[in-house]
Amino acid sequence: MSICIHRGNTDGVKVVSELLKSGEVVALPTETVYGLAANALNEASVRRIFEIKMRPLIDPLIVHIYDFHQLDKIAFIPKEAMILAEHFWPGALTIVVKKRPIVPDLVTAGRDTVAVRMPAKALMRAVLKSSGLYLAAPSANPFGYVSPTSAQHVVDSLGNRVKAVLDGGTCELGLESTIVNLCDPETPSVLRKGPISFESIEEVLGRAVAYEQGVLDGEMNKQGLIAPGTLSKHYSPKTQIQLVPHGASSKERFSDYQAIVYFQRPQEAMFENMEIFWLSEAGDVGEAGRNLFKLLRNLDQKDYQSVVIELAPEGGLGDAINDRLKRAAATS
Ligand code: TXA
Ligand code: MG
Repeated sequence: MSICIHRGNTDGVKVVSELLKSGEVVALPTETVYGLAANALNEASVRRIFEIKMRPLIDPLIVHIYDFHQLDKIAFIPKEAMILAEHFWPGALTIVVKKRPIVPDLVTAGRDTVAVRMPAKALMRAVLKSSGLYLAAPSANPFGYVSPTSAQHVVDSLGNRVKAVLDGGTCELGLESTIVNLCDPETPSVLRKGPISFESIEEVLGRAVAYEQGVLDGEMNKQGLIAPGTLSKHYSPKTQIQLVPHGASSKERFSDYQAIVYFQRPQEAMFENMEIFWLSEAGDVGEAGRNLFKLLRNLDQKDYQSVVIELAPEGGLGDAINDRLKRAAATS
């Protein structure tokens, strides 16, 4: 199979909506990363997502919706979930709540909970609207690899396994959604850091929120099913990466590396024998988030033996960037 790239216009939306309605799997742009989408209520289609991604069946999928009417049909919504949804949707927030029986077990990996998101990207919304479907969609990358932030990234890593991709240009945010667990509304927790900051979630909920680091794969391990490159080694490029704290820049320290990635473009070229990159020209975290996965993919293409990357400043989006960098650098 070779992939067909559909332009992000009315015709493209129509074609991919029809494909989805007929049970196909297609890659779609969202404001976070590209997703590998299929009708969430069609088990055969959902199974294809897992096959294409080579994803273990125990790793549940996010269901994407167009409007609030759809929400009640697939899940039980506690007040706290509604508060967050009304504040942050459409947007880069995924909420985990108790599921209704209509959602196939395959989507939720047999759990009694479902992850739901109402994405903001206009093209994605157009497909959700015109197809009228609930769309299950993980990031459109082979399991464990870096998420795609452009149609070309999808072509590069899944081009011979997917029928179509809708080209929505570069993702505006470039990092996967923040995931909040509201199964027990009394003790909300963040399962994955993302574009919606921890701080803003606490502010909107008006209470402290825990961070359950590693809980996703930790649970898998506990169940003893498999341990798919435990959470730490996810989003992993091939390149071996060494991280240094934000602001570190001593020449000695970096002399053994072939390339360095600064958070912000450095004032002067400091190293002669190294290639130099940066996540953001002016040190803007939004731009750095947008560029991160593209840069990791580019580094992989260059086959460097060793690369050093400077972490983002702490707090807000910087925390989400650093979370992905730590996973990219993890060796086990
Ligand atoms: O931004 C995003 O969230 C993108 C776009 C396409 O929407 N999607 C995405 O999906 O990143 P994925 O599958 O790559 O990551 C979703 C994460 C997985 O780690 C999965 O284990 C977790 O969400 N998840 C899904 N359903 C869950 C559930 N019921 N309980 C706990 N975690 C869940
Ligand atoms: Mg993913």
